[in-house]
Amino acid sequence: MSESLATVAYIGAAILFILSLGGLSNPETSRRGNFYGIVGMTIAVLATVLGPRVTAAGVPWIIGALAVGGGIGLYAARKVQMTQMPELVALMHSLVGLAACLVGFASYVDTSIQFGGAEKAIHEVEIYIGILIGAVTFSGSIIAFGKLSGKIGGKPLLLPGRHWLNLIALLVVIWFGYLFLQAHDPAAGMMPLIVMTVIALLFGIHMVMAIGGADMPVVVSMLNSYSGWAAAATGFMLANDLLIVTGALVGSSGAILSYIMCRAMNRNFVSVIAGGFGTGAGAASAASGAAQPAGEVVAVSAAETAEMLRAAKNVIIIPGYGMAVAQAQHTVYEITKLLREKGVNVRFGIHPVAGRMPGHMNVLLAEAKVPYDIVLEMDEINDDFSDTDVSIVIGANDIVNPAAEDDPTSPIAGMPVLQVWKSKTSIVMKRSMASGYAGVDNPLFFKENNRMLFGDAKKMLDEVLGALKA
Ligand code: TAP
Repeated sequence: MSESLATVAYIGAAILFILSLGGLSNPETSRRGNFYGIVGMTIAVLATVLGPRVTAAGVPWIIGALAVGGGIGLYAARKVQMTQMPELVALMHSLVGLAACLVGFASYVDTSIQFGGAEKAIHEVEIYIGILIGAVTFSGSIIAFGKLSGKIGGKPLLLPGRHWLNLIALLVVIWFGYLFLQAHDPAAGMMPLIVMTVIALLFGIHMVMAIGGADMPVVVSMLNSYSGWAAAATGFMLANDLLIVTGALVGSSGAILSYIMCRAMNRNFVSVIAGGFGTGAGAASAASGAAQPAGEVVAVSAAETAEMLRAAKNVIIIPGYGMAVAQAQHTVYEITKLLREKGVNVRFGIHPVAGRMPGHMNVLLAEAKVPYDIVLEMDEINDDFSDTDVSIVIGANDIVNPAAEDDPTSPIAGMPVLQVWKSKTSIVMKRSMASGYAGVDNPLFFKENNRMLFGDAKKMLDEVLGALKA
């Protein structure tokens, strides 16, 4: 393939990636968006492999790597449960970071292309920054994977003087960057490069370890953004325009998503990144017992729940992480269909950080064929709870916790929540009184107009469906 044909293919792929992102912004067009992405990536890979910069001797290596990588990817994608998806995404981000580091070191020691003067300096800056971003992305994503999979506890690790540590690390990285650029050959430049890499790896670990459980959504989208910038940096090192464009698209869309997540959680982006936001006071209040919810917990049966639903005119369903764990979305759809046929106005309230990844609930509900027009965002539905007869919370906890509004010492204080307690009756479906991801007690369970339907969401909903049909 000639250079100009490869360039045309790259432009086509870049346009397809932009169309893909546009499609993915809406559930109705997301399938098309995904398709554009697949076609774009196929064109990009073919144009690279068949392009002018790959020699015939390299092709078998590329095909071998494609087979191994593709095989592992296919196996992981088929095996992974929907609830493990965020962990898988975190692991994939770590691979992008690792790739940026490896490409950086490889292009530094590669003497086949000789740069002179300013070009050499620019290339070395690209390498230094590329490895820096890659290493932070790699180690940060590994820790995020540990936290999301529960292998590492959600509690933030707050080292004394951690902001000073970060500042010192930054200054050391700048100093070694200067030494790196002064080096006359790869042997001399290797030491500063390795020291910076180790510092960047430690910084990635420290940054994510210091972030509290409730702020993990921001971290997930932030690492998504970092992986994009790492890919863009790789593109600069390899002088590959498509990789630069694609990386920039991922980097900027991840940054926008982080901003949206922060707004949804009423968090300041810088405070989240600095770590430990709102966690110390919450732990203290829990220890002193001051914020322990008081009141009586009233349990109901599936039959009683069905009775309340049958008598209701307006129902709002709030799905959360537990619905994903129980895979209860199809039964939720059956119940919704039945109630709508009986003339009940059923709608869904989706919190921006419900579940474990952005859009988690929307994906599950779309899979179960719940009509999009009854699935509403938190801002669209929060004012309607006072006119609602029954709100059913299915495996959700933090996103309906009134402590976020009422208790300034709570770790989730200030996070907007779905105000289910304003409806005539709220029913919370979960297996126990256990707390959610943020590890915070939920006073909703003790409210006078709240009922608890204890059990696995799928099992309980099957029973509710059976009772509704009877
Ligand atoms: P959570 O607050 O984690 O609550 C989920 C609840 O589901 C748990 O309290 C659990 O209680 C229940 N549950 C688990 N398995 C169940 C089953 N089989 N049947 C019925 N219930 C089950 O979830 P949420 O309300 O969706 O809030 C999301 C949380 O995750 C937030 O804190 C958010 O910050 C965090 N987070 C979100 C993201 C994104 S991007 N969405 C990423 C990382 C973290 P039992 O054990 O008693 O059943």
